[in-house]
Amino acid sequence: MNVNDSEKMAGILISEGYKPADDENSADIVIVNTCSVREKAKEKLFSFLGKLNGIKEKRELKIIVTGCVSQLLKDKIRKRAPYVDIMLGTNSYFKIKDALKKTKFSDFQFYKNWIEIPFEPILRKNDFSAYVSIMEGCDSFCTYCVVPFSRGREKFRPSSSILKEIRFLEEQEFKEVQLLGQNVDSYRDPETGMDLASLLEKIAKSSSIQWIRFLTSHPAKFSIRIAEIMAKYPKILHSIHIPFQAGSNKILELMNRGYSIEKYLDLVNKIKEIVPDIALSTDVIVGFPGETDKDFQYTVDVLKEIEFENMFSFKYSPRPGTKAYLLEDNVPDEVKTERLIYIQNLQKEIQLKNNLKRVGKVMKVLTENINKKNPNETVGRIYTGRIVNVKGGKVGEFYDILIEEAGPHNLKGSIKED
Ligand code: 5AD
Ligand code: SF4
Repeated sequence: MNVNDSEKMAGILISEGYKPADDENSADIVIVNTCSVREKAKEKLFSFLGKLNGIKEKRELKIIVTGCVSQLLKDKIRKRAPYVDIMLGTNSYFKIKDALKKTKFSDFQFYKNWIEIPFEPILRKNDFSAYVSIMEGCDSFCTYCVVPFSRGREKFRPSSSILKEIRFLEEQEFKEVQLLGQNVDSYRDPETGMDLASLLEKIAKSSSIQWIRFLTSHPAKFSIRIAEIMAKYPKILHSIHIPFQAGSNKILELMNRGYSIEKYLDLVNKIKEIVPDIALSTDVIVGFPGETDKDFQYTVDVLKEIEFENMFSFKYSPRPGTKAYLLEDNVPDEVKTERLIYIQNLQKEIQLKNNLKRVGKVMKVLTENINKKNPNETVGRIYTGRIVNVKGGKVGEFYDILIEEAGPHNLKGSIKED
């Protein structure tokens, strides 16, 4: 979401005649778009702001802070970094153009409804794969998470605007779209009441975009119709990011996740029945308050049972303002680190095993970049998001790739000649 917000702000500024600078040393304006999901991001912000202030003491520089940290810690930023000129909250990044006309400006207003901003100027990371936001905010209030506070309540984008943006991307010959939202399964078209499954079907039916992805899904809200639609339209990629966060029911309840682990496993089994080649990925938090060795073992068991394609794992980080912040952060940091390393090693083995099964197979790959380490190779992804190093090839193309080698994090292969 943050990357997409940055793309939107960059687009607005470029259409106003501003030009991108190489880095902060050559820029007249620096916008720091921040994330506050975990504590580390906040500390990074203050150290970067200190560096910017060093530049500002020598020459003119406009410093702008946007995003979640700005939204949540406006007063702290004002106090610790009074040299910041402009601050915008998560719902008001689109005001960047007007904000830049002022010397001091801040806006942290929350909106109840979706605010549509022009999508044409968005500065995309490339010209073949695009993010398309469909909703913002979250009403789930997981007890550890700041997002409901930093981004506010759920706001859904009308499907008519989503489809218009996708049509525009189609005309620009984009090949892949990623529908974005904190909790895409809550999606309800404010105009027609259409849910995510129907929206996906509508896009698959009406658009020539070849790869459609969406994230993030919530296990308590996921509708099995989505899996049915996936099975029907292969261009909706068979890949779901559906975090279970923890394997212990006690911890899930303390997290207010709204499901038991049995329900989660049941959902996964149903999805697998409908879409046998489904690639599931997850987020996992270790060291939530009260997590015993036994609770942690349940998380390990789930990872072993499901064998996720991908896992993003985090040490619990207490966030002020959340309900869990009131609980004692009683798992020592060394234990959190130990647990994190343990599941990361386990996941590495699982990925290696899964990837080795792909050797000898031909898989469709969308190439995204030239390999920085080897200019004779391109780097792309299969439908699951797994990275593939491809011998030769052009960037932004689909290729049938014969997989020849596999590691835990990537595959290697060459273009299959007809
Ligand atoms: N501590 C650790 N991880 C967190 N996440 C969200 N909040 C926290 C927190 N306070 C993780 C969750 C979420 C992902 C985006 O970040 O796993 O799914
Ligand atoms: Fe945070 Fe939970 Fe909402 Fe995800 S569903 S953004 S973890 S509150």
